[in-house]
Amino acid sequence: MRDVISIHDFSVEEIVDVLDRAEDMVDIARGEATSDFLRGKVLACAFYEPSTRTRLSFETAMNRLGGGVIGFAGTEATSVVKGETLADTIRMVSGYADAVVLRHPREGAAKLATEFSSVPIINAGDGAGQHPTQTMLDLFTIRTEHGRLEGLTISLVGDLRYGRTVHSLAFALAKFGNTINLVSPEGLEMPDEVTSHLKSVGMLGTACHSPEEVISNTDILYATRIQKERFPDLVEYERVAGLYRVDPELLSQGPDGLIVMHPLPRVNEILPEVDKMPQAKYFDQAFNGVPVRMALLSMVVGGE
Ligand code: NCD
Repeated sequence: MRDVISIHDFSVEEIVDVLDRAEDMVDIARGEATSDFLRGKVLACAFYEPSTRTRLSFETAMNRLGGGVIGFAGTEATSVVKGETLADTIRMVSGYADAVVLRHPREGAAKLATEFSSVPIINAGDGAGQHPTQTMLDLFTIRTEHGRLEGLTISLVGDLRYGRTVHSLAFALAKFGNTINLVSPEGLEMPDEVTSHLKSVGMLGTACHSPEEVISNTDILYATRIQKERFPDLVEYERVAGLYRVDPELLSQGPDGLIVMHPLPRVNEILPEVDKMPQAKYFDQAFNGVPVRMALLSMVVGGE
């Protein structure tokens, strides 16, 4: 039994182990083979913030392994609107399930929840903090597409300040020995904590404001959405919304083998024309959430 709170909790070997297990589970994830491994187990999904892929892929993962799912998506129909604290909700929900997947707008919420939970907590996004299970599926996608997890150059593009997926991903990519370029609008740069870590381990590439500057030296273009909901001032959001567009023209300047990833949802960062190009991997990436979360659940809930 263990919590999944931050990517820092995992060594390179442990991450590779999750990815290897995920690879073995692809057939079950597709519904081409069946499993009863988690029969009788219950997963609780406590989502205080909107989600499509993360919640549904966790639920599919649990169902495909023969387990059951309870939970809420949005707090409107829960006692949170009556003023119940996160601590009390977690105390109780953890009594109903074998693990709790938590998404919450506050950074540090998942860590806090571990203090009140009697079962493992899985962080499905804590504000602008981290999103470690997304990172694992991102790594799975990179390994599948590039055949390796080291010696690559990744350009993280978009809202690097508030985007939690790029925080945990940057730490993980550095751990494996990849160079990371940081491309963001002014004011949405990667937090110092991440940038100085990348620098200290020698994995920081170019930090700039324009994707054109790094595209010729990019194996993976990882685009992200501007996190509108985290802006204290919407005028600031309007200033940067729509600033970057991944389009065929940009991709034509990239090297052979370049792939485009995005945690999704996209708003307008990637033009629809890109979807049918061979570089587009974001929908495969979204599917990969199922086998990767199956692997994690088999370890956290199944005790493997
Ligand atoms: C992301 C998130 O919630 O952090 N979505 C996801 O889990 N795939 C990215 C986003 O909302 O922009």
